[in-house]
Amino acid sequence: MTAGGGAAAVTVVDHPLVQHKLTMMRDRDRSTKGFRELLNEIGMLLAYEVTRDLPLEGISIETPIGPMKGRQIAGKKLVLAPILRAGVGFLDGMLSLMPSARVAHIGLYRDPDTLQAVEYYFKSPSDLADRTVLVLDPMLATANSAVAAVERLKSRGAKDLRFVCLLAAPEGIARFQEAHPDVPVWTAAIDERLNEHGYIVPGLGDAGDRMYGTR
Ligand code: URA
Repeated sequence: MTAGGGAAAVTVVDHPLVQHKLTMMRDRDRSTKGFRELLNEIGMLLAYEVTRDLPLEGISIETPIGPMKGRQIAGKKLVLAPILRAGVGFLDGMLSLMPSARVAHIGLYRDPDTLQAVEYYFKSPSDLADRTVLVLDPMLATANSAVAAVERLKSRGAKDLRFVCLLAAPEGIARFQEAHPDVPVWTAAIDERLNEHGYIVPGLGDAGDRMYGTR
């Protein structure tokens, strides 16, 4: 399911496996272990969808029977850019599908009073201009972190960016599209709204806390 206006599309990945696993994750009684496993599994399924249109190029190979022209993904390896810390929850699942991908880490935390994103760490490949970059964060809530992360990656040269999340709030989508109309979004669901603390309703709570068993 794809929606969009002037901005790049928002794709809701409504595959039954994704929706089933997402419902399991939302359940407040899901264990830390279960939550983490499900996030990895959904990460894998989202990676499959978000890479659907990557360009292919021909390659000559020899099968045991004879020569053929196969197809492989063209260009440089992708970059996975998780926003710390919850974005890391997608990483293993995505890397299991794309084991040669590069990884950029973006350390941002949300100031609990202002809800603004504060950067504390950034490390990425230097040739971002030549690569497709998947920015990862399970929750697109206020979008402050997402907007800041994409700004930072663009300032390092990234041009082909895609944002991947698990849940999005309508407010977060609007803010993200206003700041970065060129960056498409993939999400497993768009929830109702944000509450006064910047949490997605009904959401799943604090994704980082649920992944790491903190609180
Ligand atoms: N971050 C989270 O982990 N959960 C929300 O609901 C919003 C932001």
